[in-house]
Amino acid sequence: MKHTYLLAGLAAGLAPGIAAADELNLICSADIVICELLVERFEEGHDIDVNMVRLSSGEAYAKLRAEARNPQTDLWWAGSGDPHLQAANDKLTHPYESARLSELHDWAVTQAENAEYRTVGVYSGALGWGYNTEILAAKGIEPPKCWADLTDPSLKGEIQIADPNSSGTAYTALATLVQLMGEDEAFAYLAELGANVSQYTKSGSAPVKAAARGETGIGIVFMHDAVAQADEGFPIEVVAPCEGTGYEVGSMSIIDGAYNLEAAKTFYDWALSAEAQNLMPEARSFQLPSNRAAVASEKAPALEDIKLIDYDFAEYGKTDVRQRLLDRWSKEIGAAF
Ligand code: F6P
Repeated sequence: MKHTYLLAGLAAGLAPGIAAADELNLICSADIVICELLVERFEEGHDIDVNMVRLSSGEAYAKLRAEARNPQTDLWWAGSGDPHLQAANDKLTHPYESARLSELHDWAVTQAENAEYRTVGVYSGALGWGYNTEILAAKGIEPPKCWADLTDPSLKGEIQIADPNSSGTAYTALATLVQLMGEDEAFAYLAELGANVSQYTKSGSAPVKAAARGETGIGIVFMHDAVAQADEGFPIEVVAPCEGTGYEVGSMSIIDGAYNLEAAKTFYDWALSAEAQNLMPEARSFQLPSNRAAVASEKAPALEDIKLIDYDFAEYGKTDVRQRLLDRWSKEIGAAF
């Protein structure tokens, strides 16, 4: 280890004998503000330099798959759970049972068990949408309360949602609708919805940021991302769909073949701590933390107040299931746009 430090130190231009800090190559798939805050606070407390890149969940999965033979990433923090489970199924991620597992909510541990400990839950949050109250009022549009309302012709051009190939949020929406309606009905619904969509964005939270800025009326997103915009003072109202909705178990995975494995484990253990998870509200990240001792912001939408479906994470995180649904979406919805 010392030898490695010395070589790294020489490469970094340090005087011989002075050890360089350890390194960690991190993909962060949550909002950039929490990504940067976590890196900053982690570096303050550890002698590890973090190189962080922010990628949406589907993009992160694609990168890890592309680099499988020569991993450039050590740790993947955040992003919705399905692509993490797919990466686990593909053995792109490394099994690790943190000593902190006993501190976590059951849903976070179940996520780990479903993946033979190749991933773990770090937060949770339900899917819904945010609408711009001023735009809808000015256009005399009744605010949509249900999935069924979103296909109303009065909403033509007023909806944004992400592309499920790049975005974990949008894949959660796709899998949610399939579980709520049945697959063929869900694709028929998505085709109708498509008539009202002005843009399929790359990142999952972009639609409600656009709604906040008045560029669109409605953004289909995780509800906590809509809450973040309302909390910043934008005229955004948050909706939990009346028919029921899906939710995410935002996850974290160590990459198989990680060059900086020990540093990855150090970050992993820290990220599961209540101390690290309590930083989230400071960055306007209003998900529900997975550590039982972490305090959820009172602004975080509480899952018990939302009609949730029994989202089948194991099924919709399977490689063949996810890939087949994405291919069908690209062919029937994306290509028709
Ligand atoms: O913005 C935060 C967040 O919604 C997380 O809760 C979620 O895991 C992630 O973004 C999903 O991002 P994307 O849809 O871009 O993959």
